[in-house]
Amino acid sequence: ATLAGCGLDPSPGQTAELLTSAVPLPEPFQVPLPIPPVKRPVRSDAKTDYYRVVQRKASLEILPGLKTEVLGYDGLLPGPTFDVRSGRTSVVEQVNQLDVPTVVHLHGGHTPASSDGWPLDLLMPDGQHHDHAGHHGMTGGDVKTGSRSYTFPNTQRAATLWYHDHRMDYTAPQVYRGLFGLHLIRDAEEDALPLPAGDREVPLVLADRSFNEDGSFRYPALKDGPGVESRYMEGVIGDVQLVNGAPWPVLEVDAARYRFRILNAANARRYELALDGPARFVQIGSDGGLLGAPVEHETLVVAPAERFDVVVDFSQYTVGTQVTLTNKLGTGRATQVMRFVVARKAVDDSNVPAKLSSYAALPEPAGLVRRKWRFRRGQAGEHRGWTINGKPFDPEVMQATVKLDQYELWSFVTDVHHPVHVHLAPFQVLRRGGGPPGPYDAGWKDTVDVRPAEVVDVLVRFTTHKGKYLIHCHNLEHEDMAMMAAFATV
Ligand code: C2O
Ligand code: CU
Repeated sequence: ATLAGCGLDPSPGQTAELLTSAVPLPEPFQVPLPIPPVKRPVRSDAKTDYYRVVQRKASLEILPGLKTEVLGYDGLLPGPTFDVRSGRTSVVEQVNQLDVPTVVHLHGGHTPASSDGWPLDLLMPDGQHHDHAGHHGMTGGDVKTGSRSYTFPNTQRAATLWYHDHRMDYTAPQVYRGLFGLHLIRDAEEDALPLPAGDREVPLVLADRSFNEDGSFRYPALKDGPGVESRYMEGVIGDVQLVNGAPWPVLEVDAARYRFRILNAANARRYELALDGPARFVQIGSDGGLLGAPVEHETLVVAPAERFDVVVDFSQYTVGTQVTLTNKLGTGRATQVMRFVVARKAVDDSNVPAKLSSYAALPEPAGLVRRKWRFRRGQAGEHRGWTINGKPFDPEVMQATVKLDQYELWSFVTDVHHPVHVHLAPFQVLRRGGGPPGPYDAGWKDTVDVRPAEVVDVLVRFTTHKGKYLIHCHNLEHEDMAMMAAFATV
């Protein structure tokens, strides 16, 4: 499944295929880092904030001098950031003014099944009929036309979540074209900490893209509809690095501590982030919010969909220093991500306390329910894409039935790299490759980077919401090529 003009990325960290842009790439570190706008509610009552988002096409200048058509929440790439309080419900009315069906999923949300973005619960554009909804004659989804309201209870601790498209068979191209954004939850425990805040709390949403000559996004055409032949089997990676939607941007910083909420929103690219000079990444949080105690990293490996909440101290640099954020797993221009310029001395009363939160490890009680989830390429005689436990995604088949409140030990087993994501409840990594958890496994996770031929054991406990949920690979091309399974909570 390769197109002309595309080569393999020889980088050892990638199994995906690199799409080369047909336009000259801009000089790096010219564009200021944009910050996605915070979404304002249209109204609020005692317990709930009501929002309205319009999914629409927009023509954005992502590369200087070129226009790129995006599919954007409110026409933006990334979409607006939701910034909400733990315990306050968000009701988000999504309006589809695109020409394709969509599905919205809040990644990391403890969401009732009816709002979790089941891949067949389509939101059809106005003026299209329901019979356009199904593929292979599949039915069973709760299909709506024009608009639909999603309810996110936000009854969970402070964390960096994100929302993105989850349409069956089409998640990868629709996210690639722009349907993703941040959803931050805050709470009192986090507020009480003296972490960098205000202008010194900055989201860094990483995504790679490639561009055609006319400025449009370069992505393999889906001529034949869903199916192996029309897809990039391994996953799509681009040669242009975007941060918050801008190519290789630059951010002027004070010589002070900054909190960066890093999200890997790329379809298939893994990063190993590094900073020039003495600074380290002091990790304070993971997918599911604050760690118990900070963890220092020289480099940060971030698989698709993972979030790392880190503090970087720029007071270690003299004013005027340029600090480049690089990706050690990239090749060519993809080794660069963005740049910080230490612009001025400044007062800094922030701090990273030795105890961050009341995080507690889950117990491993006797009689734990054990399940094995085997992520691998479809074998001869099976499905020709990717499979879980030998099966391609089938919305009619529950691969597991999980009792609420029960402690379970799930083992993820892989052939090649797969970032494994579980909906509804976060988990804790217990073992990696037979040994202790890795350096990037701390805290509550909802996505874990499972490396080739590895077994990762996690402890999970679902405590809320009965219904149908998903486990899948978050390499979005793998997901679309059926590396997804449904389970029921009862
Ligand atoms: Cu981020 Cu099921 O997805
Ligand atoms: Cu995968």
